[in-house]
Amino acid sequence: MKSIVLQENPDEKLVFKDSPTPALKAGEALIKIKAAALNHRDQWCRLGMYPGLRFPSILGSDGCGVVEKVADDADQSWVGKEVIMNPNVNWGDDPEFQGYNYSILGMPTNGTLSEHLALPAHRLHSKPAHLSAEQAAAIPLGGLTAFRAVFGKGKVKKGDKVLITGIGGGVALFALQFCVAAGAKVYVSSGSDEKIARAKELGAAEGFNYKTEKWYKAAQKLEPLGFNTIIDSAAGPDFGEVAKMIAPAGSLVIYGTTAGTPSPINIPRLFFSQASIKGTTMGNDQEFGEMIEFVNHHKIEPIISSIRPIEEAISAFDEMEAGGQFGKLVIKIA
Ligand SMILES: NC(=O)c1ccc[n+]([C@@H]2O[C@H](COP(=O)([O-])OP(=O)(O)OC[C@H]3O[C@@H](n4cnc5c(N)ncnc54)[C@H](OP(=O)(O)O)[C@@H]3O)[C@@H](O)[C@H]2O)c1
Repeated sequence: MKSIVLQENPDEKLVFKDSPTPALKAGEALIKIKAAALNHRDQWCRLGMYPGLRFPSILGSDGCGVVEKVADDADQSWVGKEVIMNPNVNWGDDPEFQGYNYSILGMPTNGTLSEHLALPAHRLHSKPAHLSAEQAAAIPLGGLTAFRAVFGKGKVKKGDKVLITGIGGGVALFALQFCVAAGAKVYVSSGSDEKIARAKELGAAEGFNYKTEKWYKAAQKLEPLGFNTIIDSAAGPDFGEVAKMIAPAGSLVIYGTTAGTPSPINIPRLFFSQASIKGTTMGNDQEFGEMIEFVNHHKIEPIISSIRPIEEAISAFDEMEAGGQFGKLVIKIA
């Protein structure tokens, strides 16, 4: 089967190649993948900057497909259904924190960037009926991360003021769509004026270009009391200024470090304003189900930057590295 494989070859780490179709084990379902989507994690794996790399591995945490068959001991009613897959592997019993055996579909287990995928049938969810396979494939990892960041950790509710940094990203755009659907007033930042304009079309109230000097002054002028919730995946040199914009008793929720090492934060300001900085990673299995319900209820359509065939998937990794995308990079497989 056609697949995108990460291998231990310094000259050519990522290759498009034939891989054996997986054999079905007890409890598993075999999915014929129609579409997959990239996350920044896939690019970190390609760069060798992800823990626990295993070679060779088929990458990809997001996908949508049709169930071809299930093992004798699994729920036969899935056969023939269009599904998406919960990318959590072994979250564990504690809803607050993933267990020590936790991993994410697509490393070290084989992922969605291939024609077939075998995984435990209890990972399957019905594809939202209002979405195409390409749209549905874009949801799982980014949707789950954004859902926990916005609601589980950020406690965003109607009327709240929210700042989402780096709005061109896959997770950030889900966060925007979820916050707008919840009735929050959302501000965004981006390195591109065009992306800010597109975010406004999706319901953002205002945007700030983080490439302009002291962009945070404009945000502070518009919302002098700050933001109830800030959703950030950049950290980097602006982090100290971003943290200053947390409203009293508000929170900054962080799930990535795309812009590198954070600048120092003003700790007295943080504790005097009863503010919090909260880390978040993915989301538990219950949150995955709630996120899909939310997507169905609000008829949310993921923002797709581009769709290309699996034969050209490696160029999508290059596009992600360059950072030009607005939303998800989708790979069409069947
Ligand atoms: N902890 C978790 O569970 C988890 C889950 C998913 C992702 N992540 C991490 O979160 C980050 C984003 O993931 P993704 O898949 O959404 O990536 P992506 O689609 O490639 O997006 C990259 C993001 O980085 C932003 N960015 C780059 N430089 C920035 C800067 N100086 N200031 C603010 N934003 C900046 C971009 O914003 P513009 O394009 O608007 O400029 C864009 O939002 C990655 O580091 C990823 O590893 C973590």
